[in-house]
Amino acid sequence: MHRTGSVPSRTAVPRRLLMCPPRHFDVTYSINPWMEPAKPVDGGLALAQWERLRALYRELGHTVEVVEPAGGLPDMVFAANGATVIDGKVLGARFRHEERTAEGPLYLSWLRAHGFPEAYWPEHVNEGEGDYLLAGRRLLAGTGFRTDPRSHAEAQEFFGVPVTGLTLVDPRFYHLDTALAVLSDDEIMYYPEAFTPGSRAVLRELFPDALTATAEGAAVFGLNAFSDGRHVLLPEAATGLAAGLRERGFEPIGVDLTELLKAGGSVKCCTLELREG
Ligand code: ARG
Repeated sequence: MHRTGSVPSRTAVPRRLLMCPPRHFDVTYSINPWMEPAKPVDGGLALAQWERLRALYRELGHTVEVVEPAGGLPDMVFAANGATVIDGKVLGARFRHEERTAEGPLYLSWLRAHGFPEAYWPEHVNEGEGDYLLAGRRLLAGTGFRTDPRSHAEAQEFFGVPVTGLTLVDPRFYHLDTALAVLSDDEIMYYPEAFTPGSRAVLRELFPDALTATAEGAAVFGLNAFSDGRHVLLPEAATGLAAGLRERGFEPIGVDLTELLKAGGSVKCCTLELREG
């Protein structure tokens, strides 16, 4: 008897992305456990690694737009934190730490000037797509380190999509996008130990078949990944997760962003998705 395999075939959906070149990238302060200002950073290498990521997106058929980096904002390369954009509506980012607060208005004004007039300055602290990840029509929302849980209600009211709050507990995984990645409308991968028991139970209930990361896979930032529904770009050291993705019919693509990891960021952190209305 001929049995069709259970591996689904995957279709890539082209995306519009916003990135920010790390021309002023450095580690001059520490707001997460990855950041060690005493360790040297190779700015040229950071830029080359970032350019490779941008080239990959373009080779895969995605549109990449670029916002100019500002001096004195060494973390601005992490565009994911700059806002959350759903149905053409923009929820601005209000950063937890003083060192990054100036980034919020810069991203907001870039978005207003590039086709997103409905850009809203938020009342509550939230770090954009660092803590807000859209899975289908459900917004998964991190809290615990950066985004204020009161922002979750604000986001739900603003976007009109159901928001599911998830609480992070491990300081190494301070943003939702360091502990969980959306692979398709109804599939995710995540590191259960990064969440409270209650949030873990919620994730099991919503995504019973999710791919889970080992401590090793999470520690190399393997969950800081971007998926277009078929290709999954993730840190190249995350070989176990790559194998799991392949088994599920995805095409993992390993990327070297080790220089940016010195600030606690990788693929997803460098990528803000612009979802038009
Ligand atoms: N140094 C930055 C911070 O701690 C890294 C941000 C990484 N971005 C992300 N989406 N996880 O805020």
